[in-house]
Amino acid sequence: MPDTFRPIPRHLAVIMDGNGRWAQARGLSRSEGHKAGTETAKRLVTRCRELGVKHLTLYTFSKENWGRPQDEVRTLFDLLVRFLNNELASLLKQDIRLKVLGELEDFPFAVRQVLKLVLAKTEKCTTMTLNLALNYSGRAEILRACRHLIEQGVKPGDVTEERFAQELFTAGQPDPDLVIRTSGEIRISNYLLWQSAYSEYYFTEVPWPDFDDAQLDRALDAYAARQRRFGLTGEQATSGLDEDPS
Ligand code: IPE
Ligand code: IPE
Ligand code: MG
Repeated sequence: MPDTFRPIPRHLAVIMDGNGRWAQARGLSRSEGHKAGTETAKRLVTRCRELGVKHLTLYTFSKENWGRPQDEVRTLFDLLVRFLNNELASLLKQDIRLKVLGELEDFPFAVRQVLKLVLAKTEKCTTMTLNLALNYSGRAEILRACRHLIEQGVKPGDVTEERFAQELFTAGQPDPDLVIRTSGEIRISNYLLWQSAYSEYYFTEVPWPDFDDAQLDRALDAYAARQRRFGLTGEQATSGLDEDPS
């Protein structure tokens, strides 16, 4: 389907899963899998920007991922630092703003430093926002929002959905239209619990390192064929109300 006739998600969120299994199937180390996965992520960023996606969110490291072997955690951070250092110029050239969904405080100093640098340098970029969900947990994010509201003394009657959303890491950004998960698991693993209330989901068996442009195209075709209803009837949804009402 040509891009011009296909609705493109304004916000695409991805659970980049299967690096370990991809490597194992090739007799490689898990680190090699993560390295290959980083290349896939790089390509996806560029492709999404070309396609006109305005917000791209990548599940990069969950709070639960801290429980993995220390070596693997270190490899993941090394790759992240390298990605940020290598890609800064390219992000600026592509006018892509970096955002982090997650608390920076828990990261090693070197990771924090480079993150802060790239966040500051790309702050004014407007063509696309690249959100890295790092040290991220949907439940923890919701609790953090509750704490912030209580700390600010917000009255119970003023706790609306809009006010609540302002306390999430995604404040000011639209909810994901499409969530893609690779590598065959049919679960959301604590990802964007609040924000994905009405997202479309696309699951594929393809492991993350093999998720290339053609695979993205398949996911976008599947998305284009969905009818979003937001609780309305099929007739209402097709008579022009198929956009997110928020
Ligand atoms: C995704 O690949 C990357 C991260 C979770 C950081 P995995 O490392 O989870 O790969 P599998 O699921 O073990 O194959
Ligand atoms: C989700 O993948 C987290 C990331 C992709 C960063 P996991 O591999 O950690 O999820 P589970 O453990 O299979 O649910
Ligand atoms: Mg996994």
